[in-house]
Order: sequence, then C-alpha cells, then structure tokens
Amino acid sequence: LNILDAAVSVIGFLDPLETRLLYDLASQVPAGGVIVEIGSYQGRSTVILGLGAKAAGAFVWALDPHEEHSVDAFSHYGMKDNAALMENLTLFGLGETVRIVALKSEQVVYGWHCMIDLLWIDGGHDYDSVKRDFEEWSKYVSDGKIAMHDTSGHYPDVSRFVDELLAAGEWERIALQDATSVFQRVTI
Ligand SMILES: C[S@@+](CC[C@H](N)C(=O)[O-])C[C@H]1O[C@@H](n2cnc3c(N)ncnc32)[C@H](O)[C@@H]1O
Repeated sequence: LNILDAAVSVIGFLDPLETRLLYDLASQVPAGGVIVEIGSYQGRSTVILGLGAKAAGAFVWALDPHEEHSVDAFSHYGMKDNAALMENLTLFGLGETVRIVALKSEQVVYGWHCMIDLLWIDGGHDYDSVKRDFEEWSKYVSDGKIAMHDTSGHYPDVSRFVDELLAAGEWERIALQDATSVFQRVTI
C-alpha cells in the first residue's frame, strides 16, 4: 500500500510530505500506544495516523464535533464530514484502530486519564483554541510528541502561539515540514 496515494484520495488539508511525516510519527509509537487527533474533518490525517498506528499496534482517538459552520465561502464543516470520515476509516480498514469521538476537544479533555504518545492538533485555529488545546492536552504528553498543523504563517493566531511556546523554553521544535511542526519537551 502506498501511503501517500492512499492519503490523497481522502479530501483534506495535508500535503504529501506532511502526510509522510505524520505516518512516520504514528508508526513509531510503541505497541499499545495512544494517539489523539484534534480535528478530523473528513479523515485525511485520521487515515494516515490510523495506518501508522495499525502498523505499530497502537490506537487513535479522533476528536471532532462536526458542528455545522462555514469558515469562508468555500469551506463548510458539518455532519457530512462525519459521514465521509466513517466511510474513509472503513475503506482503509481502520475500524478497530480509530475511535471516533464526536465531541469538542475541550469537552473530552476533562474526562481524559491516560498518557499520550502522539498528539495531533488541527482543530480550532483561533488563538484561544490553539492555546487551550496545547495547554490542556500537553499535560498528558511527557515522553511523547505533539504535532501541530498550520504553523507556517498563514494562520497568525497559530504562529503567535508557537512563537510564545518556543520562547517559554519548555518545548522545542524537533521538525518542521511545510505547515506542520513537531514539538517535544526539552530535556534537562
Ligand atoms: C482544518 S480541519 C481538520 C483537517 C484534518 N485534520 C485533515 O487532515 O484534513 C479542522 C476541524 O477541526 C474541527 N474542530 C473545530 N473545533 C474543534 C474542537 N474544539 N475540538 C475538536 N475539533 C474541532 C472542525 O470541525 C474541523 O473539522
């Protein structure tokens, strides 16, 4: 199976090199490991994370409320994305690897209880959402990694948060591929 070919058949926002990076990160998670995705849309990143997780013997929790809303004249989010997500996961044989959680990340985090090996942040792109997602969910990432989308300047709120994060010194950026950054805790 060519992972990059598989990814482009799912409507979504990752380019092929970001797709490769995300697959590599997911497939390096330990067996039985935990991957959390914030923002699934129709499942391009979900499928990639799921394929990597399946190869590693790990699992993915995919969080997206699929609330009806328009971002601009061309993009509309909603329950049609939930239908596409379920179809794509079935198509790629990921029904036993990916758990769909149709709730907002901030609702899920209050009941969360286990450590996370890989966190993928691609939900709300306003400053408060990005900051909240990173701060609330990173509590569950110690040795693991956090990958975040849209960090290359097209989303000023996301870039502002990343600048602040790196300036604070607790997290370092260990990879940057197109708009995707990967962070890890600084070890002393
Ligand atoms: C840019 S899209 C995600 C794209 C997807 N990762 C891909 O690879 O195609 C953003 C998604 O985040 C979801 N979202 C918005 N706010 C959210 C929240 N608080 N928690 C979880 N998902 C959220 C939206 O419903 C939307 O589907």
